[in-house]
Amino acid sequence: MATQAETLSRQETNRPDPRVFQPFLRLARLLSGVEPGRSPLPDGRPVNMAVGDPQQPAPPLLAETVARFPDGWSSYPPFRGTPSYQQATVGWLQRRYGLPAGFVEGERHVLPVPGSREGLFFGALAALSAGAAEGRDCVLLPAPGYHVYAGAAAAAGARPVFVPATRESGFLPDFGALDPAILARTAIAFVCAPSNPEGAAADLARWRALLALARRHGFVLAADECYADLYYGAPPAGALQAAAETGVLDNLLCFHSLSKRSNAAGLRCGFVAGEAGLVDRIDAFCRVGGAAVALPVLEAGAALWNDDAHAAANRAFYARLFERAEAILDGRFGWTKPDGGFFLWLEVGDDEATALRLWREAGIRTLPGSYMVADAGLRPNPAAGFLRAALVHDEATVVPTLERLVAVLDG
Ligand SMILES: Cc1ncc(COP(=O)(O)O)c(C=O)c1O
Repeated sequence: MATQAETLSRQETNRPDPRVFQPFLRLARLLSGVEPGRSPLPDGRPVNMAVGDPQQPAPPLLAETVARFPDGWSSYPPFRGTPSYQQATVGWLQRRYGLPAGFVEGERHVLPVPGSREGLFFGALAALSAGAAEGRDCVLLPAPGYHVYAGAAAAAGARPVFVPATRESGFLPDFGALDPAILARTAIAFVCAPSNPEGAAADLARWRALLALARRHGFVLAADECYADLYYGAPPAGALQAAAETGVLDNLLCFHSLSKRSNAAGLRCGFVAGEAGLVDRIDAFCRVGGAAVALPVLEAGAALWNDDAHAAANRAFYARLFERAEAILDGRFGWTKPDGGFFLWLEVGDDEATALRLWREAGIRTLPGSYMVADAGLRPNPAAGFLRAALVHDEATVVPTLERLVAVLDG
C-alpha cells in the first residue's frame, strides 16, 4: 500500500491523461463498432442509461416566464444577477435548509452561474488563485466523482488528489484521513452530496466535520449539492446548515442548479453561494471567461426557485422509479435505495465487460464505474466493479429495461 506522500509524488510526476476526464468518450470507444442488441422496448431501440440527462419535461412555468421577458435578450446580463433572482435563491436556501434570515445575503453571497458545472470550474480557479501565494496547489476530489472536478484541477495546472469514496467510507471521501502535509497544500476540496454516482447524502455531522477541517487547514470546501432536491427519505442536510451554526460562511462555496430540481438542464441556470470574498473572486473569473445568465433565464430561474410544488412532483416521479427498481433488483448487485440523486450504482464484477454485454445483448447503455475515476494510476480503482445507470426515463421504459438488465446479468 503506497503512503499518501508517495501517492502524491506519483501524481506530481504522473498527471492523469486528459482523456480520462471524459468518461463518455471512453464509453463511446468501448462500444464503438459494437451492434446494440434489441432492447425490451416495443420498437427495440437502445435505451441510454449512461447519461444523467433528465428526460421529463421542464415545468410550463419555465417557458411561460421566459416569454414574459422578450426585451431581456438584447442587453448583456448583469453578472451578479437581478434582485429578484437573488431573493429567490436566498428564499429557497432558507426554506430548504431552515437557514436564519439574513445569514445568506443575495447581493454579497450569491452569484448566478449557468449551472453547477460552470460554478465548479470557476470555483476551482478562484480557490487556486487565492491559495497560490501560500503554495496551495492541491485539489481534493472524490473517486469516483463528477469529471469536471478533475478537469478544472488540470486546467488550472493543479495537483489532483483522488480520495476513494467506497462503501466503507459511506460512499463519500474521507478527507480527514489525509496526511496533514497534503491538507496544508490544499486549495479546494470537492464533495458531492447527494453524490453522483452513489446517491449518498452527507449528514449534518459530516458537513460540520468537513467545514471544520477546511477552516483548520485553510482551504475551500466546495459542496456540490446540485441533487439537493432529489431525495427519498428525510431532506439531506446541506453544508450551509453547518456554516449557519458557526454564524459565518468562511471557507465555504455551495453549488446549486435547476438542472435536476426542475428538469431544466438546458436552461443553464444555477448559482454559487458562499463566502463573499470567494464569490467575488469567482465573479471576476466569470467576467473574463464569460458565464453570465441571460435576463429572461434569470427571471424564469427566479420563478422556479420560488416554486416548490413542481420540485416535489419531480421528486415523487423519481421516488416512484426507485420503488420499482427496488422491487426489480430485489437486493441484487449490493444495491439499496440511495439517499438522493437519480443513479443506480450496481456492483456487477467486471464493469467494462458488463457494460459491453448489456449493450450487445440488450441495447442498454450504462457507464462502467471505473470510467468515473480520472486518475488512471489509482490502484485499486475504487469504482471498478460498479456500473452506473441513470434512472431518468419514464416508468414504461425503466421497468422493462431493468427487468432485462437483471435477466442479462443473472444469465
Ligand atoms: C455531480 C454533478 N455536479 C454538477 C453537474 C452539472 O450540472 P449543471 O451544470 O447542469 O448544474 C452534474 C451534472 O450531471 C453532476 O452530476
